[in-house]
Amino acid sequence: MKVYIETYGCQMNVNDTEVVFSILAKAGYTRTESMDEADVIMANTCSVRDNAEQRIWGRVEVFNQQRKSRPGVVVGILGCMAERLKDSLTSTGKVDIVAGPDSYRRLPEMLADLGEGPQMDVRLSRDETYDDIVPLRTDKNGVSAFISIMRGCNNVCSYCVVPYTRGVERSRDAHTIVREACDVFERGYREVTLLGQNVDSYRWTDADGRTVDFASLLEMVACVNPELRVRFATSNPQDISDEVLLTMARHDNICKHIHLPVQSGSDRMLEKMRRRYTREWYLERVAKIREILPGCGLTTDVIAGFCSETEEDHVLTLSLFEEVGFDSAFMFAYSERPGTLAARKYPDDVPPEVKTRRLEEIIALQGRKSLERYREDIGKRFRVLVEGPSKRDASDLCGRASNYKMCIWKDPVHRAGDYVTVEVTGCTQATLLCKLAE
Ligand code: SAH
Ligand code: SF4
Ligand code: F3S
Repeated sequence: MKVYIETYGCQMNVNDTEVVFSILAKAGYTRTESMDEADVIMANTCSVRDNAEQRIWGRVEVFNQQRKSRPGVVVGILGCMAERLKDSLTSTGKVDIVAGPDSYRRLPEMLADLGEGPQMDVRLSRDETYDDIVPLRTDKNGVSAFISIMRGCNNVCSYCVVPYTRGVERSRDAHTIVREACDVFERGYREVTLLGQNVDSYRWTDADGRTVDFASLLEMVACVNPELRVRFATSNPQDISDEVLLTMARHDNICKHIHLPVQSGSDRMLEKMRRRYTREWYLERVAKIREILPGCGLTTDVIAGFCSETEEDHVLTLSLFEEVGFDSAFMFAYSERPGTLAARKYPDDVPPEVKTRRLEEIIALQGRKSLERYREDIGKRFRVLVEGPSKRDASDLCGRASNYKMCIWKDPVHRAGDYVTVEVTGCTQATLLCKLAE
């Protein structure tokens, strides 16, 4: 039996899909990258914004065509949308399996029980971390691997559906994380990205009562091998500690990049969003990052048009973007998610055209800032990890500098997984154009 899975949403979903492949492989299923030859067709889904869900509904129609033309084909919806929509997915008659993020161990059993009708398991767990499961890596280049260090989220940012789809926060055994990092390094990987919705609240206590926090976990993973790069996401402005920054400074192989979602530049919005920091706090954290880690890459997420956002609030977001100068940003228009605190308490009252206009203003400003930030690197030399041929021109190689900026350069010699020193000769607003340095 062959399984095909499409993955949507965040990097944690990418890693979850690898966990699912591993669980199904043990039960005798093999992975296929072609939907046309699959016996089981699944999507690992995202609910974070309405357009993410609309996309999946389109895929359900496509999957259903396969199901109609090839009797016996099974369609499954996994992940956050499965958790949110539950039996409204099976009741379409187009979906056979609905499995939430904590029920993947039961997939083989659910597949086996399909004779009894559609199968659903959307129970959330307090302790499932898929600790003992070695993900079946699906990346193309064999260089960079995701490692989930925790699941769920204990924050209740009022706009966000994640706590409802992923359940309570739990940290994974530090030793299995380190073992997984050792294992991928031995298999040729040269970069791991530690994943959690709020990595700074990672906390795990061993049998002797010794507690590992995120700073010590970072240190443990950094010590696996100096040639193994370590990245992580996502940091929460409220929780990122000086200890984490100092740990980054101590280890060359911990990449100097922090993804620090700000969401808004207005304190009134931040409070309404239930983010637990102010603009002033955020700017202090940025200053600290730049003091302890000069040259550190800084990226962010922002939401335009949250409930009751005024022009003044929006201007504060623009001025924060101007002041900080992020290298890049993920920028979104607010999308109300049913069941969240904001959906229950605050009207979604910024008109769509205003949201769009504000979002476009942020995008335009950030475009200009990105170009400035990339230009600053012209003339510098970076040690980059080769990811493979560049998408634009296969005779070029691409790979990221420690600060997360993508570099491309002409190179007939090196291969994916090599470290190369390049010199930056030019840039766009998303790429550093380089040459091999002598
Ligand atoms: N745990 C991460 C974010 C996970 S969701 C953090 O706390 O930063 C990724 C991003 O999606 C968020 O940072 C936010 O900018 C955006 N997002 C989440 N809910 C949203 C919503 N309802 N509408 C628009 N954007 C949203
Ligand atoms: Fe959502 Fe906030 Fe948790 Fe991030 S920290 S996943 S934005 S609730
Ligand atoms: Fe989406 Fe779920 Fe990730 S809602 S962003 S896939 S945690």
